[in-house]
Amino acid sequence: MAFDVFADRLLAVLPEPLRAPAAQRLAASGPVLHRLLTGLYGGRCGAAGFDAWFGGLMADLGRLHAQRSPALHALDAERAANPDWFLDQRMLGYCTYVQKFGGDLAGVARRIPYLQELGVTYLHLLPFLRPRAGENDGGFAVTSFDEVDPALGSNADLEALTAQLRGAGVSLCSDLILNHVADDHAWALAAKAGDAAARARFHVFPDRELPDRHERTLGQVFPQVAPGNFTYVDAVQGWVWTTFYPYQWDLNWSNPDVFAEMAAVMLRLANRGIEAFRLDSTAFLWKREGTNSMNQPEAHQLLQALRAIVDIVAPGVLLKAEAIVPTRELPAYLGSAEAPECHIAYHSSLMAAGWVALAEQDTEVLRAVVRNTPPLPRAATWLSYVRCHDDIGWNVLRAEAGEDSAARLSSASRFFAGVTPGSYARGAIFQSTDPNAAHGSNGMAASLTGLQTASTDEARALALRRMLLLHGVALSFGALPVLYMGDELAMLNDESYLARPEHAMDSRWLHRPVFDEARWAHRHDAGTTEGAMYEGLAQLIRVRRAHDALAAGAPRTLLADAPAGLLALMRGERLLTVFNFSDAPQQLALDGAWRDCAAIEQRADATGVQGVLTIAPYAMHWLVRA
Ligand code: GLC
Repeated sequence: MAFDVFADRLLAVLPEPLRAPAAQRLAASGPVLHRLLTGLYGGRCGAAGFDAWFGGLMADLGRLHAQRSPALHALDAERAANPDWFLDQRMLGYCTYVQKFGGDLAGVARRIPYLQELGVTYLHLLPFLRPRAGENDGGFAVTSFDEVDPALGSNADLEALTAQLRGAGVSLCSDLILNHVADDHAWALAAKAGDAAARARFHVFPDRELPDRHERTLGQVFPQVAPGNFTYVDAVQGWVWTTFYPYQWDLNWSNPDVFAEMAAVMLRLANRGIEAFRLDSTAFLWKREGTNSMNQPEAHQLLQALRAIVDIVAPGVLLKAEAIVPTRELPAYLGSAEAPECHIAYHSSLMAAGWVALAEQDTEVLRAVVRNTPPLPRAATWLSYVRCHDDIGWNVLRAEAGEDSAARLSSASRFFAGVTPGSYARGAIFQSTDPNAAHGSNGMAASLTGLQTASTDEARALALRRMLLLHGVALSFGALPVLYMGDELAMLNDESYLARPEHAMDSRWLHRPVFDEARWAHRHDAGTTEGAMYEGLAQLIRVRRAHDALAAGAPRTLLADAPAGLLALMRGERLLTVFNFSDAPQQLALDGAWRDCAAIEQRADATGVQGVLTIAPYAMHWLVRA
């Protein structure tokens, strides 16, 4: 059937003023959506057939578009006219749990002035929708996508918060957990009660035959606390695919109902004012026997289809891929000019490689990641970060860490666990019993960089430099940098999780502390470590804001001949950033063009540029020339 007929299904439900702009966006993205969904679901729509299903989807999209508020329609129009809006170097993210930062949503709203003071324009609140009763992976096991967690507030509080944030120039990002739902989500309950349609929204196997075949090539996300990828569930008399914890049931995205329902979930949340979605675990959406069921072409087609939907009915909304995958797999999550996918993708290799560089005092792996990072497609960006609520996953660096990668990465993980003699770090190895295999490392940045073990002013100063060094890379790389709550105040590990039986086995809780009011009160006192961190970071943020060459899309060149302890990157033609990852001073020869350069950011012991730049241990220099 020609696409026009379907376009009419969407347009017919819109009030007159919305029709012309929607028709324009449909003309651009509708045929792409139709092509993608025909490919994915053409033969899977049962007796009624694909056309009926697709027509129904279009009418639903139209209704959800019509339900957007005038303020959101205005935002849509503004951003559709300026699709590069989020690439600006004034964009800065902040990520936190609601309960740890503000107690509840209203408490988060009370911290907006603080976010503004920091220069935050993008706030990622970790899951705040109604989670599974009992253990729920920090909210990543969702029971209802249409209800705020009652412990954190109400839907009205969420709408109030999104409006207040928008007024303050901050976009709210919410997780959208696409890969799974909680085992007490309505669909799981219906499947347990024997509803065949609900069962078909999951991957359920009557016996071990297929699970065993899949297991041969699947990896493990939580090999210790949740080994295997399937869980036997009595009530469904079968093995349910559970990539993560046993209570997180993977959705079957080859079922068109799952697609239509999840697209509607996304748009209902967008209509509450959510401006960005962190699409959780995107790599896992499509399963294929004989593979690790990650990064499958269909997973990309699904994301491209969700993107086309956003482009048509909520173009103010950003999609962010959480795909913790090797660097070579990452660019696909941003898509291409013909088939855009997510607007933003976590650059977890860059993050992990920064930590390896600290452990090794050598930037070889980090440089390899930089070399493997292609230029950005239009209107898209990486997300750079130092820490987040998850572990530092080492395995994404297998390619860049070379032949000996397993030993090398496991050595980094021992370093950050503080077991390597002489290590300044205090973290925890995550999910690995085998001392020769690396999985992940946990800990707050301050503890991993030596602040927890520092007993002298000198050791504290070095820890501070290391923290700022990693943040300097994240802020200047050319990405949307996202700060992790607590790092701006040099907060340390929180061991209290060990006393909570439901969390004790998951050391990611080590770096999920409660916002520290006392440190916050000292943030402008550079005589305290927290104040020195906060002011140092604030200075980097100010410098970044002032230079377009630090915007996400501005070109980046690696200076290959810098000594091994240094990372030296040109941004554009005139801005140079140099980072010393080693505990010895390093020198970088600069040609005459730099004779009259200005230091725009200069941490510690600058000796000026007289042909040779000397960079103190763990210091960085950002220079601009005429
Ligand atoms: C993502 C989240 C992580 C969670 C997992 C399962 O990777 O970041 O915290 O455990 O998804 O939902």
